[in-house]
Amino acid sequence: MLTMLTIVRWIDLIKAVRACKTAAEERAVIQKESANIRTAFKNENNDTRHANVAKLLYIHMLGYPAHFGQMECLKLVASPKYADKRLGYLGIMLLIDEKTEVLTLVTNSLKNDLNHNNMYIVGLALCTLGNISSSEMARDLCAEVEKLLGSSNTYIRKKAALCALRIIRRVPELHENFMSRSKSLLNDRSHGVLITGVTLVTEMCQQYPENIEVFRKAVPLLVRHLKNLASAGFSPEHDVTGVTDPFLQVKILRLLRILAQNDPEASEAMNDILAQVATNTESTKNVGNSILYETVLAIMDIQSEAGLRVLAVNILGKFLTNRDNNIRYVALETLNKTVGIETQAVQRHRNIILDCLRDGDISIRRRALELSFALINEGNVRVLTRELLAFLEVADTEFKQSMTTKISLAAERFAPNKRWHIDTMLRMLKLAGNHVREEVLAGFIRLVAQSGDMQQYTVQKLFAALKRDISQEGLVLAGVWVIGEYGDVLIDGGSFEDDDTQMEPTDAAVVGLLDSILIGPYANQLTREYVLTALIKLSSRLSDYSSQEKIKEILNKHTISMEVEIQQRAVEYTNLFSFDTIRPAVLERMPVPEGRTIIETGGNEPNSPISGRAASKSGPSDQDLLLDLMGVGTASSGGVAEEVEDIVKSPVTATRTAPASQNNVDLLADIFGSNDSPATQPQTHSPSTPSYGGNSLLDLLGSDQPSSPAPPTGLDSLAGLSSSLNASSPTTSSPSMNSASLAQESIPGYQAYTKNGLLIHLVPSRDRKNPAIINIQVLFNNDGSQGTITGLQFQAAVPKSQRLQMATASNTTIEPSVTEKQMMRINNPQQTAVKLRLRISYVLSGQKIDDMAEYGPFPENAF
Ligand SMILES: *[C@@H]1O[C@H](CO)[C@@H](O)[C@H](O)[C@H]1NC(C)=O
Ligand SMILES: *[C@@H]1O[C@H](CO)[C@@H](O)[C@H](O)[C@H]1NC(C)=O
Ligand SMILES: *[C@@H]1O[C@H](CO)[C@@H](O)[C@H](O)[C@H]1NC(C)=O
Ligand SMILES: *[C@@H]1O[C@H](CO)[C@@H](O)[C@H](O)[C@H]1NC(C)=O
Ligand SMILES: *[C@@H]1O[C@H](CO)[C@@H](O)[C@H](O)[C@H]1NC(C)=O
Repeated sequence: MLTMLTIVRWIDLIKAVRACKTAAEERAVIQKESANIRTAFKNENNDTRHANVAKLLYIHMLGYPAHFGQMECLKLVASPKYADKRLGYLGIMLLIDEKTEVLTLVTNSLKNDLNHNNMYIVGLALCTLGNISSSEMARDLCAEVEKLLGSSNTYIRKKAALCALRIIRRVPELHENFMSRSKSLLNDRSHGVLITGVTLVTEMCQQYPENIEVFRKAVPLLVRHLKNLASAGFSPEHDVTGVTDPFLQVKILRLLRILAQNDPEASEAMNDILAQVATNTESTKNVGNSILYETVLAIMDIQSEAGLRVLAVNILGKFLTNRDNNIRYVALETLNKTVGIETQAVQRHRNIILDCLRDGDISIRRRALELSFALINEGNVRVLTRELLAFLEVADTEFKQSMTTKISLAAERFAPNKRWHIDTMLRMLKLAGNHVREEVLAGFIRLVAQSGDMQQYTVQKLFAALKRDISQEGLVLAGVWVIGEYGDVLIDGGSFEDDDTQMEPTDAAVVGLLDSILIGPYANQLTREYVLTALIKLSSRLSDYSSQEKIKEILNKHTISMEVEIQQRAVEYTNLFSFDTIRPAVLERMPVPEGRTIIETGGNEPNSPISGRAASKSGPSDQDLLLDLMGVGTASSGGVAEEVEDIVKSPVTATRTAPASQNNVDLLADIFGSNDSPATQPQTHSPSTPSYGGNSLLDLLGSDQPSSPAPPTGLDSLAGLSSSLNASSPTTSSPSMNSASLAQESIPGYQAYTKNGLLIHLVPSRDRKNPAIINIQVLFNNDGSQGTITGLQFQAAVPKSQRLQMATASNTTIEPSVTEKQMMRINNPQQTAVKLRLRISYVLSGQKIDDMAEYGPFPENAF
């Protein structure tokens, strides 16, 4: 058998390996052969060394250990024969890395060979040095390389330039050694030397910008080179599909771009040649396009003439019609960079950019979309918005949310008038009401509140829209809020026509519409909260008696809702009916909400996890007071409190408090690194921004605590909390959490984090009304081992298909004896596994700790 024999030639080894039928067989062949090779190495067999190293390199390629051959490679290198040296150096490149101890031996061999009188051997040494150079080796051999840069042999100059390039990448400060020689390389007549020289100089300029000044003197020379190349006739030696040495042209253009940045004189010196290259280069071939692209980049980067810049934009415009995806992509990407500067020139290609919105390639669609938004200005906002709205209808789902955000931003910025602005927003809500961020809704509501003369029009339009379609959450929320707030205006307007349909907004029709949303298939807790609030507002806006009764009936029905927030709302609102003297004042029209910035997020993956902000500093203290009095811990749900505040406005002492947290996006960016556009949802549900709290409110609501849970227990608001919460999270009803030595087992729920004395447990429960909703109570405990924990911030993110809302934490300080809480709610329509990514930061004895954790999925039957 073959494997039993000593294989002498490497070709036989390859044959033997190829003949193997199984991996085990192959291993056996290799093992046997490796053993033979080792023996031969040990015997210093000078005749078989070459063949054995060659076999070893093959063995190495197959992934078997071969490092025992390192010394043999060195011996080959020491041989006078070229073939031995070549194999030896190849072996060194493959088998030796920077850390190997034999490296000093290699340095010696290299030093000898760099001074060899055979140019090919010098070439081998330069190549090897470039490949494996460690920083010591680079320093040791730098002088040799510098000398070779001045060699009279083009082959050696070229290799030396490449080796120098590798050396300064490895040890940048060695660049000074090559400065003077590299200047003369730029003068070289050989294309090979010139291209390596230009590359070396480019690297030196990029690493040390002060070198730019030095090499700027070479601009006329480089321009001349480029001119020669651009106007050269056919040159068989350098021809690539009819273009003379495109590689060299591209490299020179790139160096010129660096040299002329911020320098008017150098820019001036290259204007003509750039124009010439831009106009004369063949654009039907990819080779030409690469030169054109580099030219465009140069024109954009340097201080070029206006006409030239227009020419560059037009080249990009032409790229957009190219059939090659990569070229269209590169064009859009470059136009996007340019659009801020050459706005007019880019505008001229608007139609073709809009065409790219329908490109087959999603990454092109994405770039075209970005660019389209960048193009919007006062002059074209109508046209472009119309186009974008048309595209919104067919756009990939993943684009929709960022589109709605950007359309609303553009509309806000450039709207020619209010009517157009409102129409645009309405159209957008109708087309993509399920993909609208909360801030956008808030902005729309602010717009409506500010536009007194447009309110009737808007409320009519929304009434009509909801009559037709209650399936889009954003539209429903906006519509319900506006109808609640301006129901009287809607009724006063009488019947109207919308899209050829006669609409009759009577009291009964309005209440009926809201009721249909409540019982409709698309209702979720959020819409239910909005509807209840709208209904109580309508109770003071509508006059019809039977509608009043209907409102009472609906609210009453919800006082036994299993959703604690809904129940709370319904109970409180129902209670308001006992205070008819002040009810209208309480339900007065909301003031115009304060402006809030919509933060534009990257927007490419708008469906990425939604996260709430924890431990917001916005929880005002009078709110806490209010909740204490109502027997509801702050922890239970910031939502309840804020919702109450939203609608129940005390006419007497309307203390304004800061708008709820706005900066979710920054925090999210923190969680996800520089990630694109997670849709965000602050913990407030209502888009009506201002919050009010006041003492008269306390009188109003605190006097009679009607909710079914236990009455307030005085100081222990947490006990009140756990009982008021037991509808949604039954596991929390253990009030004995105040023991200082808190054994972990005594904490209910699932442990998600334990470190530095901080224990975090999750108590999940499924919403009884809506199985897609999972309420999770987060319990924070401190085992006391590290002292008090302060500045706690707890944030979470969920998988794309889920949505997350978070309330405020009950306290950002965790004392050893106290359990602090925070509610979060996950809307999980696809009922996928709940997985949480947690970001926890806190301060322990003056040290800020940032930590991440993951939890999930919950065990079966967890909720
Ligand atoms: C192989 O060559 C080295 C030096 O060239 C010599 O010292 C050694 O004796 C040789 N080994 C054999 C087995 O010939
Ligand atoms: C060195 O050369 C080897 C073999 O040719 C190659 O695989 C490797 O990528 C090179 N490493 C560097 C840093 O150039
Ligand atoms: C387009 O340009 C804007 C600002 O100049 C930048 O924020 C955005 O990331 C760019 N888009 C792409 C796809 O490069
Ligand atoms: C909720 O709490 C009340 C009072 O503490 C208790 O009577 C009731 O059984 C609890 N309900 C559940 C589902 O735990
Ligand atoms: C938070 O906890 C600290 C220490 O236990 C306490 O002094 C403070 O009043 C608490 N704040 C709130 C809002 O409950």
